[in-house]
Amino acid sequence: MSVSDAVASRISVRAFLPKPVDSTLIADVLRRATRAPSGGNLQPWRLFVLAGESMARFRALMETRMMEAPMGEAPEYDVYPANLKEPYRTRRYEVGEAMYGLLDIPRSEKFARLAWLQNNDRFFGAPAAAFCFTDRIMDRPQWSDLGMLLQTAMLLFQEAGLGTCAQEAWSRWPQTVASFVGAPAELMLFCGLAIGYADPDAPVNRLVTARAPMAETICFVS
Ligand SMILES: Cc1cc2nc3c(=O)[nH]c(=O)nc-3n(C[C@H](O)[C@H](O)[C@H](O)COP(=O)(O)O)c2cc1C
Repeated sequence: MSVSDAVASRISVRAFLPKPVDSTLIADVLRRATRAPSGGNLQPWRLFVLAGESMARFRALMETRMMEAPMGEAPEYDVYPANLKEPYRTRRYEVGEAMYGLLDIPRSEKFARLAWLQNNDRFFGAPAAAFCFTDRIMDRPQWSDLGMLLQTAMLLFQEAGLGTCAQEAWSRWPQTVASFVGAPAELMLFCGLAIGYADPDAPVNRLVTARAPMAETICFVS
């Protein structure tokens, strides 16, 4: 698969088959993904991988935690700015509506939408996942490096026939995740990455998101 094909065909997968993913394949992809660039070559990422037995234990823990704290824990960072202005607000609204449209959950069904959101806390059924942490001393430049690593990994997973979904939704579970994976206190959780074989029959996986016209985001300076 060419880089162009991987970039063009990757989508966020939100329904997975229960088919297990070989841990050696995950390790191989993630090792190669660490070729991603980072400012000063700091490589500020720290990944914790769940698969097989560890995923089964984590899933069981999450079912309990979701009962105890349905809205999650106090997040350590805000996923979005408090007052999202245009055009970001509309872009976020549109992707949400497109997704709920495929799921056939109208706006009026608030409870059903909330229930769907909890699928994030189950990695959308993915049999494997990674949590991406960084050192708490890191600032915005290094957080952008995390994105370099994640996209490189997602494209390599795509090439390997695996689907992924980056999930900032895990920002709602910083203590539970850190304690489960045994992350030292100096690390801070950024996001999760669901990894697995996409369910080809799930309508939600038909979501191909729009992009703003090039003129809105790219300017050739004359
Ligand atoms: C860092 C990051 C975090 C994300 N967090 C979530 C999430 O918590 N839940 C979710 O369903 N999608 C999440 N997404 C997926 C985005 O909604 C998705 O990338 C965007 O709508 C574009 O769609 P595409 O990935 O299919 O191209 C995240 C994406 C990124 C890059």
